[in-house]
Amino acid sequence: MNVHELILKNRSYRRFHQNEPVAMDTLRELVDYARIAQSPWNQQAVKFLLCNRPEKNSEIFAHLHWAARMPDWPGPAEGERPSAYIVIVGDRELGKVFNYDHVVAGTAILLGAVERGLGGCLLGAFSKKNIAPTLGISDRYDPLLVIALGKPAETAVLDPVGPDGNTAYWTDKDGVHHVPKRSLEDLLLGEL
Ligand SMILES: Cc1cc2nc3c(=O)[nH]c(=O)nc-3n(C[C@H](O)[C@H](O)[C@H](O)COP(=O)(O)O)c2cc1C
Repeated sequence: MNVHELILKNRSYRRFHQNEPVAMDTLRELVDYARIAQSPWNQQAVKFLLCNRPEKNSEIFAHLHWAARMPDWPGPAEGERPSAYIVIVGDRELGKVFNYDHVVAGTAILLGAVERGLGGCLLGAFSKKNIAPTLGISDRYDPLLVIALGKPAETAVLDPVGPDGNTAYWTDKDGVHHVPKRSLEDLLLGEL
């Protein structure tokens, strides 16, 4: 895959072959991609928790909010849930502001997942307070992002944003997930 193909395939996948495990070594390799990614002030103040145990996966899953733009969809059903997670937390002893590190790291991790025939979804919608005990972390760590991972069980396609400007993603009756993207012309403000 070239970079364009990789980015095209790097969609947010929310349904997985839950019984296909992701090895702990693979999770470690993905974090090693994040390790060398960009970081504001090069503070490198985020840390990573890895999970591929079904029981713990269930506990993490219970905290997550899926697909806010599809309010009628309750999230992945049992059997379609992620088989692994990487949770990114900010280390308050190493950094004070965590605006960007976790998203840059998360993108590196997702790209690495796609490269390996896997896929995932970045999830920022969870209660930090409620998830902390599940993660077994102290106040030193700020839960920033959960990355759901697994072998995708859905196809995602990009559509142009229509004249009404609606960017809400949706899944059709065949289970194909549609993600509207604005055109390049719509994004380019001009040449300076
Ligand atoms: C920082 C960040 C947080 C996100 N949080 C969630 C989330 O909590 N739940 C969810 O289902 N998707 C979440 N997403 C995924 C977006 O909904 C997704 O990127 C968007 O719909 C576009 O789809 P695409 O990733 O396939 O291009 C998040 C994405 C980003 C970048």
